[in-house]
Amino acid sequence: MNVLITGGAGFIGSHFTKFVVNNYTDYQVVVIDKLNYRGNLANLKEIEGKTNYKFIRGDICVKEDILPQVSEADVVVNFAAETFVDRAIMDASDFLSTDVFGVYNLLEAIRGTDKVLIHISTDEVYGSLEEGFADENYPLRPGNPYSASKASGDLLILSYANTYGIRFKMVRPSNNFGPNQYPENLVPLFITNAIEGRPLPIYGDGQYRRDWIYVMDTVRAIDLVMHEGEIGEIYNVGGGNIRTNLEITEEIIERTGASKDLMVFVDDRQGHDRRYALDSSKIKELGFEQRYEFGKAMELTVNWYRENEDWWRPIKSGEFREYYEKQYRERLSKAGYGE
Ligand code: NAD
Ligand code: DAU
Repeated sequence: MNVLITGGAGFIGSHFTKFVVNNYTDYQVVVIDKLNYRGNLANLKEIEGKTNYKFIRGDICVKEDILPQVSEADVVVNFAAETFVDRAIMDASDFLSTDVFGVYNLLEAIRGTDKVLIHISTDEVYGSLEEGFADENYPLRPGNPYSASKASGDLLILSYANTYGIRFKMVRPSNNFGPNQYPENLVPLFITNAIEGRPLPIYGDGQYRRDWIYVMDTVRAIDLVMHEGEIGEIYNVGGGNIRTNLEITEEIIERTGASKDLMVFVDDRQGHDRRYALDSSKIKELGFEQRYEFGKAMELTVNWYRENEDWWRPIKSGEFREYYEKQYRERLSKAGYGE
């Protein structure tokens, strides 16, 4: 099988790429990635030089970048996206380009063929749930420009299946954590800040809830969907570990041995979704079993960031600083923390 993986140099995409290259040595794997600020070839170092793997720098918004590669592929797995909510709140334009127009380009590239698009969506498309759990038929009520762009991409795919009969499978994972996650998301930001002795800026009252899953469990769920999932079906992939941000922060403080004094409540994220909670029975019926217990997965993650400072320190001293200043300087100083 020829597998094209778009966005394979990012967090989840790189773990999935390594998994496929290492476990299916008879598959040919091509990664196309634009290498935005989160795309990082160091994430794929381990498979550099493997004969069944090739990396191409390219943009899913540029037809000429993807057409030749899509024409060689049997399956296209799309991880490529702008993914970080706080940046979407600052400026949504790149999100609309990649998460909507980029998806349109992939759809046009597979239209009229029997190639399969495996699209990685998100639990954020269901919006905030005060109670209960969202199954795959739950209405889409995205609450921020990132999730609205992702929901638009999803709807476009459904419309192409209905109109042109394109073949797709869709996966909607919940909040992932693990090695190689760019240190602006809650878990890697707080772990690395704790190691550095910097404040941990908790938005609002810290009572926002997410459903956490270890990245290697998500990778295996996507692998299962790629091989066993039904064409035209959507699969939620949640970890079943619903935790408040305060609980996550306390867990990180305990595991890093940092001082509780680093915890600081700052002004909230605009339009902050209160709670995500997935009903993942459908993927379980397909045979998915989680392997990583939450505490064990947190331990692995904290240890990875401790042992891989050469991965994250250069990131945190580069473009990241500019973003960090914009996002946190005023919030932290209002809360009495000058950095
Ligand atoms: P990431 O930001 O770490 O990686 C995204 C990758 O896509 C990067 O390597 C980036 O360079 C690449 N990319 C961006 N725009 C591109 C373009 N126009 N053309 C080609 N490549 C482009 O993201 P992630 O956290 O690994 O998420 C991967 C996918 O999973 C995304 O679609 C995201 O919406 C979805 N998702 C993520 C999570 C999570 O918790 N991380 C949860 C649910 C769903
Ligand atoms: O739910 C899946 C989504 O998870 C993915 O689709 C997105 O691509 C991914 O970025 C992630 O989005 P979230 O907004 O849920 O994750 P984030 O790590 O940004 O934030 C998690 C929670 O922590 C959220 O309630 C906001 C809060 N938070 C985050 C940061 C960065 C803080 O309280 N302080 C912070 O500094």
